[in-house]
Order: sequence, then structure tokens, then C-alpha cells
Amino acid sequence: MAAIMQQAGLQRGTKRFPGGARVHGRAPRKRHSPAGWLPSGPMFSYRHAFHAGNHADVLKHTVLIATLQHLTQKDAALAVLDTHAGAGLFRLDGDYAATSGEAADGILRLLPAALPKGTELAPALQAYVDLVQSFNSGSAAKVYPGSPFIAHRLLRAHDRLKLFELHPTDMRSLAGNIAQLDAGRQVAVLHEDGFEGIRKFLPPPSRRGLVLCDPSYEIKTDYGRVLEMLTEALRRFATGTYAVWYPIIPRPEAHDLPRRMKTLATRAGKPWLHATLTVKSSRITTDTDGTQRRPGLPASGMFVINPPHTLKAALKPALPQMAELLAQDAQHAAHSLESGG
Ligand SMILES: C[S@@+](CC[C@H](N)C(=O)[O-])C[C@H]1O[C@@H](n2cnc3c(N)ncnc32)[C@H](O)[C@@H]1O
Repeated sequence: MAAIMQQAGLQRGTKRFPGGARVHGRAPRKRHSPAGWLPSGPMFSYRHAFHAGNHADVLKHTVLIATLQHLTQKDAALAVLDTHAGAGLFRLDGDYAATSGEAADGILRLLPAALPKGTELAPALQAYVDLVQSFNSGSAAKVYPGSPFIAHRLLRAHDRLKLFELHPTDMRSLAGNIAQLDAGRQVAVLHEDGFEGIRKFLPPPSRRGLVLCDPSYEIKTDYGRVLEMLTEALRRFATGTYAVWYPIIPRPEAHDLPRRMKTLATRAGKPWLHATLTVKSSRITTDTDGTQRRPGLPASGMFVINPPHTLKAALKPALPQMAELLAQDAQHAAHSLESGG
């Protein structure tokens, strides 16, 4: 599939709205302000996303930030490959919904105004909240940065970011948003399958790299493809850091994935770290009229191969806080943190 390097003007979906603002992706019903984080700059498009900023994003993006903070301490250039980039920026409120979707039980619970009095967040969690807030003005969070914008915010000029996105609509939004960063050759947006597409960038010229693999697992084969991707990537670039998000749901493939990743890392002689966050029970409940109710995503995990040596210490105080503050059902809220290799 054609690689689309981020360049203004390449997106067919680009429209001009009153005031000269370029809006990429789906046309909004009315012109909106990007919550003030680029006060006089170009207009970014950001889709309303029901899941953005939920408990899974809190876990995933906290791990991503802590990892990048460590990896960008060395001067040598870093390559970040995001296999499933998404649209890049999301609205948590606005035209489409009166509510903020799942962020209400995620990032929004961690903002200063929502925290129980006297709560001091663990540094890794505070760094996550600070980064999200830096995309917003004031104390509210109306814009949520996805992994591409989080990574871009933490990279230095000589680092490189490759973003893969397969869905045409998300791809257009992502390409439009990234183009307006004016990041030049630092960021490439590729309309390709991320599992396959990363191969050609491994190993990166600097021999320093992070691969974030964050599929939606809507297709059952994603679980197997994660393992194939890791196997091949470790063969090409054994010292790279690989961070995989996965859902913890009652499904055999999901249950097996962390176990299989542990086996893979151990056989390759690589250290690994595994963090999980549970916010509620996975039990399906039945209403009095017999209607069955699924609970929504109850838990998720991050599995990191070749993690920074600082990551475990950073997550140790952050995970119990996430479980406590994001619990939807205190009886089942839990976390785990283990490492090996
Ligand atoms: C969970 S979302 C990614 C969220 C993003 N990583 C973040 O943290 O903001 C998964 C994305 O992967 C895209 N996708 C699905 N299959 C893909 C594939 N094989 N290669 C690249 N992107 C894919 C979907 O369209 C969706 O936008």
C-alpha cells in the first residue's frame, strides 16, 4: 500500500472552513476550538472517540511516557514505531455527545479537581496527567492525545516517529493532524499494515528503538499476529524495546497472549515486564427481564520486552493508585506488576 509521508496537501479529505482553518477527516458540525493548546496556530482535527482516555489508555499511555522519558535521556537518536497509531487526537466532549464517554472513568478522574483531597499522584501518573493537560487550556480536558501525539511531544528533533494506520478515515485524520505539526521528516505516516510495515525499519540506523503495538483486537487473528510480529522483530532487532497492549477479557486468545509473550521473551533471553490493571469484574450480569449485560472492558495489560531498567520502579507506586482511583467496582479493582529475564 502506498506510503503517505506527512505533507500538507496530500490528503484528499482536506476542506477549508470559514476563517481559513483546515480541518482533516470528518467535517465537524460546527467550527470548534482545539481547547487552546495551539492558541493562534493551525486548526487540528480531532475525532470524538468514546474510548479515548479510558482506563486502558491510562495504563498504556503511562507506560509509554515512562518508557520514552527514559529512552530519550541518551543523546543517540531514537526511532519510535507505532504499529496501530489511530487518529492521533481525540475530543472528549463536544458536538456528538453530551458525555465524555469512557474518559469519565479514566483520565477525568485523575485531574486535580476530581482527585480526593490531599491525593498526591505517583510521579509516573502525574507525568501522564501533565502531558494530557498540556494539550488543554485550564483545568478541563477536552482534547486527548493518542499515542502519536504523546510520542511526538516527548521526542527530540533528531528522533524519528513512524506511524502506521490502516483505517482510511483514521488515516486521513492522522495524516491531517500530523501534517499541521510541521514536523518535516521527523514523522512519517504510513497507510499500511503495521504488523508487516515495521519490518523495513528494523533495525533502525541508530540501533535504538521502541515499537508500540496497540491493535484493537477486533479480529481474533490479531493475537497471533502480535506474536509473529514480535518473533520477527526480535530476530531483526534484538535490543529494541517492544511494548504491547492487550485486553484482559474472557477469551482464550487474550488469556494466552501474555503467557506466550513471556515464553517468547524468555526463549530469546530478553528481560520483560508485565503490568495489568483491572477496574471491575468481567462477569456478565442478567437483568430481571433476562437481558444479559456485558460489563465493557474490565481490565488490560501492557507487556514490555527489553523494558527500561527504571520502568518497574516507576510503575510500582503508580499501579495501585490507578486501581484505587479508577475502580468501577472496588471489590474487583486490582493491579499486578511482574518482571523476568
Ligand atoms: C486501539 S487503536 C490505536 C490507538 C493508539 N495507539 C493510541 O494509543 O492512541 C487501533 C488502531 O489500529 C488501526 N488498525 C487496525 N488494524 C491495523 C493494522 N493491521 N495496521 C495498522 N493499523 C491498524 C485501527 O484502525 C485503529 O485506529
